[in-house]
Amino acid sequence: MKILIIGAGAIGTWLAGLLSLKNRVWILGRKQSFVAINRDGVEINGEFISKPKALVDIRKLNEDPELVIFAVKAYDTKRASNVIASHICNSTSLLTLQNGLGNEESIGEKFGISKVIGGTTTYGITYEAPGRVIHRGYGLTLVGRMDGKITSKLKEVSSVLNRAGIKTKITTNIRREKWLKAIVNAAINPLTALNGCKNGDLLDGGSLENLLESTCIECKGVANAYGIELSRDPLELTKEIVRGTARNYSSMLQSIRAGKRTEIDFINGHFVRVGKELGVSTPINEELVVKIKGMEQRLKL
Ligand code: PAF
Repeated sequence: MKILIIGAGAIGTWLAGLLSLKNRVWILGRKQSFVAINRDGVEINGEFISKPKALVDIRKLNEDPELVIFAVKAYDTKRASNVIASHICNSTSLLTLQNGLGNEESIGEKFGISKVIGGTTTYGITYEAPGRVIHRGYGLTLVGRMDGKITSKLKEVSSVLNRAGIKTKITTNIRREKWLKAIVNAAINPLTALNGCKNGDLLDGGSLENLLESTCIECKGVANAYGIELSRDPLELTKEIVRGTARNYSSMLQSIRAGKRTEIDFINGHFVRVGKELGVSTPINEELVVKIKGMEQRLKL
């Protein structure tokens, strides 16, 4: 399959490395990644994996991809959609494996929701340097169309991911899986970013674990009020993911350390906004948003 990955951060680089073992892959990213990947290829856990074609300018892409994977931060989704627009044809599918809520809708607004495949992934990947990532455990990727239909294109995308060693399942209700994953991120990401700790440190049997639990419970209340029937208990799943990615640094902590803006508005911020609309109070999420934004301001991100 001809695949374009937008975003050469942890997830984008990891996907590009694995997918280009069996597919034709381009990865669009910043200049440092473009230089490093075209020179040395992608390394996962210190081992050379493959050499996808890196691009820094979409105008250098002279073929239309069959699949585009969004691996940019949620606040860059609109900009990324505009950048790739001229390369999207009737048969192109658009998969998002981003964190947060609202990405599918944003891509759908631009290209039509029937082209969009929503996705979640619980792999823990740490970005080391341009073209180099560390895989730190746990992983299941879920993919599904927003209308729940299982099409041949969706099956093809799922098998392309599985063949690359990315354990993937199809779901007929990706919306609720996105909410479930957003709860997991709302609990893990700000707490690890504020405390500068690995995911596993959150299960301390004390104050961090208590806060992890109450954040999950608060988010679950918002999801229920919004009419989302979660497929699993979010607290149980969050703890399972914390254990599975115990040695990983969350993407929010990685953003803070790299001097980049975080996705707090698309994760905890989303629960606060929906909570306000529905009259569900969200004091914990509000406080986490304020604290992370304070951190971003201090670091001038
Ligand atoms: O954002 C992240 O870091 C990841 O979604 C996860 C699964 C929490 C692992 O660190």
